[in-house]
Amino acid sequence: MVDVFSRIPAPEDRLALLSGQQGPRGETAGRTICSCYGVGEKQIMQAIDEGCNTVDALGKRLRCGTNCGSCIPELKQLQA
Ligand code: FES
Repeated sequence: MVDVFSRIPAPEDRLALLSGQQGPRGETAGRTICSCYGVGEKQIMQAIDEGCNTVDALGKRLRCGTNCGSCIPELKQLQA
């Protein structure tokens, strides 16, 4: 069973997401790569540096790429 409530962005991130701006975590997360979960480039690069060398591993750690999948090509580019 899919836990749909875990996929809903935090309240402080929703307005920023809808308006196309960075959320309150923008300073530390970097450019948003996965808009479904508000995961930023800096978070992804840190996870890659720490050993997440597949899209599946990134998804397990940060949830990026595990909803609509439109960010998967960019996740692969960051891993290259
Ligand atoms: S944008 Fe990443 S799963 Fe939808």
